Amino acid sequence: MTNLLETERLIVRSWIPERDAEQAFVVMYSDSEVTRFLRHASRVTSIDLQRQRLIENSERMHQRNNGTGSWAIVEKQTTTIVGTILLLQLPDKDGLPTLDYEVGWHLRRVSWGKGYATEAGQVMLNYGFSVLNLPVIYAVVKPENHASIRVTQRLGMKPIGTTNKYYGIELLLFQLDAPEEWKGSREQGEQGKQGKKE
Ligand SMILES: CC(C)(COP(=O)(O)OP(=O)(O)OC[C@H]1O[C@@H](n2cnc3c(N)ncnc32)[C@H](O)[C@@H]1OP(=O)(O)O)[C@@H](O)C(=O)NCCC(=O)NCCS
Repeated sequence: MTNLLETERLIVRSWIPERDAEQAFVVMYSDSEVTRFLRHASRVTSIDLQRQRLIENSERMHQRNNGTGSWAIVEKQTTTIVGTILLLQLPDKDGLPTLDYEVGWHLRRVSWGKGYATEAGQVMLNYGFSVLNLPVIYAVVKPENHASIRVTQRLGMKPIGTTNKYYGIELLLFQLDAPEEWKGSREQGEQGKQGKKE
């Protein structure tokens, strides 16, 4: 098991398909309230299918090997899985990865209203900026998903209107630029890389 990130109340770790499938299915992806605003493909109808999804998910992460993926959010106090946090390349209308990155969050229903999505989202954004050196991170939200829009607001993400560039549907787009201190290190890194080429 690999812990990626830690906050005051949460651990963000990789999924363990055999161990996590039941929890992920029962408390999250079989709950129509949780999947209401998610892509149709996010809905899961059995523990076996959930396990398969988690296996495919970790295989894709290994293939990409670029630090992006989707991870389990674990509540430290109870060691239970309370949700999913992701940082992925946004897909275009054909499902092909674009050069834009999104942060996303899903929580089991009993863990709503505690600030967990914001807490995990914050540490995921920091990871995207400081470890992956991303200059900007987006979030895409269905216009009627008010709870998720509030998460983007709490994270200080800027609303920049609607777009149909991703997923083949019209979505609200939110953006956060890398903080200045990390932009600096990215530019230095790029100069370093260019310097090496010369
Ligand atoms: C979107 C979703 C993750 C938001 O969950 P959430 O619990 O409202 O968001 P947070 O975890 O950031 O919690 C914030 C809420 O907790 C409250 N809260 C309590 N303690 C808090 C704390 N310590 N810190 C911050 N907020 C706290 C806030 O007041 C806020 O409630 P409010 O919006 O009613 O004012 C959740 O609705 C969900 O999983 N939906 C289904 C999946 C989905 O649609 N995902 C988004 C796809 S774009």
